[in-house]
Amino acid sequence: FYKKYARLSLPWRRKNITPYEVWVSEIMLQQTQVSRVIKYYKKFLQKFPDIFSLAKCSWKEFVPHYRGLGYYRRGENMLKTARIIVKTFQGIFPMDKKALQSLPGVGEYTAAAILSFAYNKDIIAFDTNAQRVYGRFFYGSRFAHVSLKRLEKSLALNKKKLNAAIMDF
Ligand code: ADE
Repeated sequence: FYKKYARLSLPWRRKNITPYEVWVSEIMLQQTQVSRVIKYYKKFLQKFPDIFSLAKCSWKEFVPHYRGLGYYRRGENMLKTARIIVKTFQGIFPMDKKALQSLPGVGEYTAAAILSFAYNKDIIAFDTNAQRVYGRFFYGSRFAHVSLKRLEKSLALNKKKLNAAIMDF
């Protein structure tokens, strides 16, 4: 499926993407459709090309660049996380799932997406949609219980591609 239908032109699929850029895309994509995010994503990165430019921005200055995506809580969490990354992690997103999950607005799925897409870690990004696809594929039902640990161990596939494929599917 991915060989045929991969949306390789999505702006967050480019080669050598930074962890910061992956994080921005995943936060925006949490509640908003891909088609709607693309425009905001590109503009946002023009204004805030890296974590340092974002971290030093005030809420007032930030809001106009986020408005339209709705969900202000996500925007607040973005600024908080940017400041934590600069203050505590020297501006570098940690390569560790637990550390990533300690950031405001970053849950298990987003942490896994960052590790996979930015750091090429052998890890599955698992949200409700992915769980349904895996459930249907392996057990014939979207309600089936799918063990993430077992999936990660048994699927000898490039996880970065697998994650992108499941999302596109
Ligand atoms: N939805 C959430 N993350 C995504 C991604 N990286 N690509 C496509 N759709 C997504």
